[in-house]
Amino acid sequence: MTSPLSGVHVTGWGSYAPSLVLTNADLERMVETNDEWVVSRTGIRERRIAGPNETTASMASVAGLRAIATAGLEPDDIDLIIVGTLTPDYPMPSTAALVKQAIGNKRAAAMDVAAACSGFVYGYATAHAYVASGMAKNVLVIGAETLSRYTDFTDRGTCILFGDGAGAAVLSASDEPGGTMGIEMTTEPSGAYYIWLPAGGSARPTTNATLASGEHYMKMKGAETFKMAVRTLGSTSLASVRRAGLELSDLDLVVPHQANVRIIEALAKSLHFPMEKVFVNVSRYGNTSAASVPLALSEAVASGRVKQGDRLLLVAFGAGLTSGAITLQWTADPAAMARAAGIGPADVTIQPGYLEPTNPFPAALEWLRAESGAAS
Ligand code: COA
Repeated sequence: MTSPLSGVHVTGWGSYAPSLVLTNADLERMVETNDEWVVSRTGIRERRIAGPNETTASMASVAGLRAIATAGLEPDDIDLIIVGTLTPDYPMPSTAALVKQAIGNKRAAAMDVAAACSGFVYGYATAHAYVASGMAKNVLVIGAETLSRYTDFTDRGTCILFGDGAGAAVLSASDEPGGTMGIEMTTEPSGAYYIWLPAGGSARPTTNATLASGEHYMKMKGAETFKMAVRTLGSTSLASVRRAGLELSDLDLVVPHQANVRIIEALAKSLHFPMEKVFVNVSRYGNTSAASVPLALSEAVASGRVKQGDRLLLVAFGAGLTSGAITLQWTADPAAMARAAGIGPADVTIQPGYLEPTNPFPAALEWLRAESGAAS
């Protein structure tokens, strides 16, 4: 079947998760909660926390280098770098600009995409458009987040959910059959304030008062978000699959945004889609926002869940409320990720700014770092 979209393939993929683990038992020591409640309401058992020397750009760069190596490319083969993130290193410059330098690319354009948890899928769609139009041959798309630095560890409604990490993919032009088949993107601003970070922007610049009231932390209306997420994920998924000229039954694997296993199960139920064909790793990472889909995709490929010729659906939703879904036929050899073996944090250096260095690690978690004896 000829799809309306063609000629753009995922040729590389990779991810990075920091080593420090924050378990539900650890959270029990900080807020009024318990492992049973968190697992039964969310499916989350633990999440990763970036160390003091790690930032969104540093984690993004490791995932990006791994994706480039898997694609069999050099950093300078990349024409455009897109980073989806809601936790950039700075409001400016873009995190993508820092990534460009850290991976040693001399020629790419670089920009961030602000679509919250849909950031990677929106970035993928943007990359697809650049490659399909001939404006770029190889695009590096990254989703990366350091949510622990925007999390109120006294708010049990949010601190149980989020974690840090990064995932990446390289999209390349190719005349081979397969590749991207259907793209759907939506934004529903009636839910714009269901998940938001009030202070630090032009509407509510940071002041002593915003700091004192904790407005620099993520706020969320959990139940409202849950309902809208299930509805939107379902409609976006269906639209993307139909644009590809397929039915849901043609899919081999769905890789959804990993926010909450109950949202994923409700999505599958609403679509009458079997959970056996849905990839879930939320128990180990929590919600890593824009990093979640590419992190899950990389793990799905690494664990043998994706074969050449498989039809995949990547689907996400996030603050905005944004949602996006990509239907694609996987063409890359899963074994290619062996090329990225050995790439790690030591391979990237983020050029520091000229102000006095600071320790960005959340003060509320210093006890965990001390107990785990983490060096980073
Ligand atoms: N531990 C124990 N109890 C908790 C708790 C926690 N961490 N968080 C909330 N509770 C309590 C509430 O205070 C409430 O108690 P009450 O009835 O005495 O007031 C009770 O548990 C139920 O709270 P509620 O908020 O209705 O729970 P829920 O079933 O909706 O689950 C979420 C809460 C946050 C897990 C759920 O709403 C959710 O996952 N929403 C989507 C969030 C999301 O995915 N956001 C990111 C989108 S990209």
